[in-house]
Amino acid sequence: MIDLSVRIKNLKFETPFLNASGVWCTTENEIDEILKSEAGGVVFKTMTLEKRVGNPEPRLYVTDDFSINSMGLPNLGVDYYCQIASKLKKYQKPLIASFAGFKEKEFYILAEKIDNTDFDGLEVNLSCPNLEGKGIFAYDLDLSFKILKNLKKITKKVIGVKLPPYNDRETIKKIAEKFLQLKIDFVTLINSYPLGAFIDTKNERLVIKPNQGIGGLGGRVLKPISLAQVILFHKFSQGKIDIIGVGGVETGDDVYQYILAGAKLVGVGTRLLKGPKIFSNLKKQLEKIFREKKINKIEDKLGQLKDY
Ligand code: SIN
Repeated sequence: MIDLSVRIKNLKFETPFLNASGVWCTTENEIDEILKSEAGGVVFKTMTLEKRVGNPEPRLYVTDDFSINSMGLPNLGVDYYCQIASKLKKYQKPLIASFAGFKEKEFYILAEKIDNTDFDGLEVNLSCPNLEGKGIFAYDLDLSFKILKNLKKITKKVIGVKLPPYNDRETIKKIAEKFLQLKIDFVTLINSYPLGAFIDTKNERLVIKPNQGIGGLGGRVLKPISLAQVILFHKFSQGKIDIIGVGGVETGDDVYQYILAGAKLVGVGTRLLKGPKIFSNLKKQLEKIFREKKINKIEDKLGQLKDY
């Protein structure tokens, strides 16, 4: 009997598949569709204190190999998401609120609002690369640690952090050790690679408009980068912090690779742009792999990469 369910603390996910925050999760209808699918839960679009229209169009470019986005956090505002969370509770699947402030204080106000609602968990987005004139919080480690320490005092809900890619092992080690100290429950690895560009040769211009045409790189090309982050974070946190692996998930085989790397769940971003049907395909494909390899549950293979 194959059991694909996993837990992050007290939250049970019947399958290890989620949307990556940002895709198919901005409106109540979209979130409803995710919850009706084979996804194990849902991560809402990153919410901000006020509703936002986001960056000017064109702001998303998608090919089979990659995507580039500079959405700029378009969302309907924290109050809207807090209000629909109570309606969406009926699906009995974990509801995760992703949120981001523009200033340190905003993170605390948002967490207080979310804490008083039917959300089951929080994903602190410290890694959006698309806000003109603003840096990425997670590249300022001291500030990030301070924010997370204070957020832990505000909420007792399950709390996770969405991180960008890092280019050296030492930084990943430092973060993993600090997150263990802070008792962070999960990390989502990774947001898009912050600086991606693609040129339309016919028109001799970049394919998206905002931020000088440079935006977050996602899709298939992100998988090797993300897998490395997952492997290192799993190792440095001694497997004690749950990981949601994001980047280039398209097939059951991709999910299986993330499990071996140490991710308990995966988030689907670019491929989910074609719709939530991907979750039933992932389920069938992962079950087939488990059947063939005689695996009963995800925990049996979590982080179980073999040495050469
Ligand atoms: C965006 O809205 O710009 C994408 C979200 C993110 O990268 O965090």
